[in-house]
Amino acid sequence: MNIFETDDNSTPLTEEEKQGLKAGWITNRSELNEMETAGIAEAEIWLMTNKKDILSESFLKTLHKKMFGEVWLWAGSFRTTERNIGVAPYNIQPELRKLFDDIKYWIENNTYPQKEIAIRFHHRLVQIHPFPNGNGRISRLMADLLMRKFGLPDLNWGSGDLTEISELRKQYIDALRVADRGDYTALIGFVK
Ligand SMILES: Nc1ncnc2c1ncn2[C@@H]1O[C@H](COP(=O)(O)OP(=O)(O)O)[C@@H](O)[C@H]1O
Ligand SMILES: [Mg+2]
Repeated sequence: MNIFETDDNSTPLTEEEKQGLKAGWITNRSELNEMETAGIAEAEIWLMTNKKDILSESFLKTLHKKMFGEVWLWAGSFRTTERNIGVAPYNIQPELRKLFDDIKYWIENNTYPQKEIAIRFHHRLVQIHPFPNGNGRISRLMADLLMRKFGLPDLNWGSGDLTEISELRKQYIDALRVADRGDYTALIGFVK
């Protein structure tokens, strides 16, 4: 079995990115998941003392590096190749800038309820798909960081594991697809 095979082929890695796997002893998918999950737990600890503004490109890259830096050489760097999800590589930076500006504007002007701002943030970020991998996880965490900034509890994300193939993950992806058409009701219902 190929450890690089994605559950739904959403973001298969390029050959070069596969070469970026740091831990050579990893031989299967569950070891890889475990390493990544450990890194994410480390990142959560680092976040407890973070005072930086989360709505910036440099913060996003730093957070990705904290989450995945033990596992991937390219952690913290944006992707340079096209994927079946996400904007063209040269549009990642401008699209992120627009997104962060929109979020700041929505917060200042109460354009949407706070929770909806966090949900829209998640959807737009995962649509841009800035990194070779880890986009779902970092975009869910970024939305939760915005919730924390609002003084609200983390979103519940269907209260299950969204990283592996499951009925729950299917519901989540379906809700993202509806959001692609500008209708956020399904995604709002999903995260609760
Ligand atoms: N059609 C889709 N199929 C799969 N994932 C999608 C789709 N549309 C959006 N996504 C998002 O992309 C994420 C998968 O991208 P990926 O970079 O592999 O993230 P991660 O490694 O954290 O799961 C999903 O969790 C989801 O948020
Ligand atoms: Mg993935």
